[in-house]
Amino acid sequence: MPDSSHHPFSPTRGDYRDPLTLIDWPRLEAPGAWLPQSALSLHGLPEFAAAGDEVKRRLSRYEFINVMYCGIWLESIFLQRVSRLLQPDMSRTENAHLLQELREETGHSLMFLRAIDAAGVELPQGSWRAPRAAAILGRYAPAGSAVFWLAMLIGENVSDSLNRDLCESAVDVNPAVRQICMLHVADEARHISHARVMLAAALSSSGAARRALLSSAARVLLWQMASVFYYPPADFYALAGLPRETDWRASALRNPARRRFVAQQLVPTVQLLQSFGLNVRES
Ligand SMILES: [Fe+2]
Ligand SMILES: [Fe+2]
Repeated sequence: MPDSSHHPFSPTRGDYRDPLTLIDWPRLEAPGAWLPQSALSLHGLPEFAAAGDEVKRRLSRYEFINVMYCGIWLESIFLQRVSRLLQPDMSRTENAHLLQELREETGHSLMFLRAIDAAGVELPQGSWRAPRAAAILGRYAPAGSAVFWLAMLIGENVSDSLNRDLCESAVDVNPAVRQICMLHVADEARHISHARVMLAAALSSSGAARRALLSSAARVLLWQMASVFYYPPADFYALAGLPRETDWRASALRNPARRRFVAQQLVPTVQLLQSFGLNVRES
């Protein structure tokens, strides 16, 4: 795992740099893939191998847009819930940390919105939807509770694994997309370590019954997060130019190569959850 504290996009402590001024936006408009072929949900299927290069390139954009929508969704929950925790009499360190994190998440969402606009693809209203159970948990679990920080940790860690992979190995994707991932990795390293501390504190007073309940919540959240993050909405495949008659999302969900890829990507999150004594297994 790279040391993100030495990352070129990593701000020094207390220093904030706006992602909108850091990303090389004109490069994002260059033609080319936004994800490597091996990271696409249909990779490994003969029907997809037979598709044209333009369809593959467009699908790579739609699949990365899906990743960014997941980011905007998770960040919107975080911004809404965590801003309510702010109180004038809270510890200065905690207050400063939360304000910094809220500012960074706002910057990420603005960065994602701008990147989605730059993709130059059709995105009809309502073509992306948040998963229900995770959205309900994220919205109604009391902010600061164990289940709230569990949901945040899972959301952030799952997306962090893919971002790290893209930073390290995806040399054949648009360089501005890699910049987006690098910037997110650098900020998320601090967010994830804060969420870990908060979850550990919330769990410290939990007995066996409560841990069993949280283990069930962790399994549902992990499954829902993986199914939305790694498997784009059915409409995205048709919008990318694949034949509408085929249910490509169902094909992706059955795709053995994709299942192996996703299982591998989830390993760090599963191990992290197990380190908290939660009963989550690698599939
Ligand atoms: Fe973020
Ligand atoms: Fe974050």
